[in-house]
Amino acid sequence: MSFSPRIIAFFLAVLITLVSVAFLSFVPDVTAAMLFVVGVACFFATFFFVFYTIDILVFREVEQIYKTIQKLKIRDFDISRKNLLRSVNPIKKLNSEISVYVTKKQNEIEELKKMEQFRREFLADVSHELKTPIFAAQGFIHTLIDGAKEDPKTLDRFLNRAAKSIDGLDALVRDLVTLSQVEKGDLKMHFEQIDLKHITEEIFEQLETKAEKRGVNLKIKPKTLEKAFVKADKQRITQVLTNLVENAIKYGKDQGKIIVEIEEDKKHFHISVEDDGPGIPPEHLSRIFERFYRVDKSRSRDTGGTGLGLAIVKHILNAHNSKITVTSKIDKGTTFKFKLAKIIESSDEKLVDGE
Ligand SMILES: Nc1ncnc2c1ncn2[C@@H]1O[C@H](COP(=O)(O)OP(=O)(O)OP(=O)(O)O)[C@@H](O)[C@H]1O
Ligand SMILES: [Mg+2]
Repeated sequence: MSFSPRIIAFFLAVLITLVSVAFLSFVPDVTAAMLFVVGVACFFATFFFVFYTIDILVFREVEQIYKTIQKLKIRDFDISRKNLLRSVNPIKKLNSEISVYVTKKQNEIEELKKMEQFRREFLADVSHELKTPIFAAQGFIHTLIDGAKEDPKTLDRFLNRAAKSIDGLDALVRDLVTLSQVEKGDLKMHFEQIDLKHITEEIFEQLETKAEKRGVNLKIKPKTLEKAFVKADKQRITQVLTNLVENAIKYGKDQGKIIVEIEEDKKHFHISVEDDGPGIPPEHLSRIFERFYRVDKSRSRDTGGTGLGLAIVKHILNAHNSKITVTSKIDKGTTFKFKLAKIIESSDEKLVDGE
């Protein structure tokens, strides 16, 4: 409960008047008129004295604090000087304003600290990821220079390995460039009419050898689906689907089954990429979209992954007003899902926007 200086002064004045009049009434020969005059005088004197004391003390202090705030050029304060001085309890109001401001600043500091930590980790990750293929290629080339080149078989083997390391390096740098472009918003999306079914078939063709090596079966569902026209950037959506299908092959099981399902509702096509592999443990599930995050670090690196694929997928789908979700069950498999805005087939090819 808050009291204004006026109310406090009034109550104190009444109290002091009552006490003074009560004491005075014990003095012999005091008349009622005298008691009245003393009472009235006491009331007004106390009232004005208390009122101005509180008023001057409180308001001077508040003004002083406000001036300091203005000197600091703090624009985050919502309250104006006028409102502050007019309020019933300016100190309380100022206090709450300051605590709001402090919380805001604390959140900003936390955010900056997180970003700094993130930047440091990112730099460490990038250097580590670059170091691995560079050292490998360097090792092979130096061994060749030091004499191994004399043996044609070793020459061939080492050159192939060096080339593989440099290919990995190239893929990593390209992924990093794409990621930084999407994050900066520099990557322009070229929205056009694309057929998801056709794109999936093309991706299956490209990844056929990889899938065959592991005896993996690739399927599109429903079989009856003829075309699935969406409004999207062809190159980027191909990148998304390639990474999802490639992940399913890489991290799924031998002789496994991968299904790309394309379902439609009124405005969207819902795409899911499902495998029957070992799945992702729940504690890793929310983190797999982070840059360089890999569930099984040694295995992912063996398969040549940089750990940037899903981070790029997430950004590309964001740019399509979509979101990727993942569900996974250990030893049962993993499913990634997203949706894209549909193109309603009509004579004038009307586009339907995503959410
Ligand atoms: N279908 C899946 N089943 C099991 N684990 C998966 C699956 N898809 C992704 N993962 C896990 O998520 C991690 C991140 O995947 P992401 O595509 O970002 O990286 P990557 O495949 O290792 O490298 P890149 O895609 O850059 O070649 C993988 O390393 C893997 O551990
Ligand atoms: Mg990947």
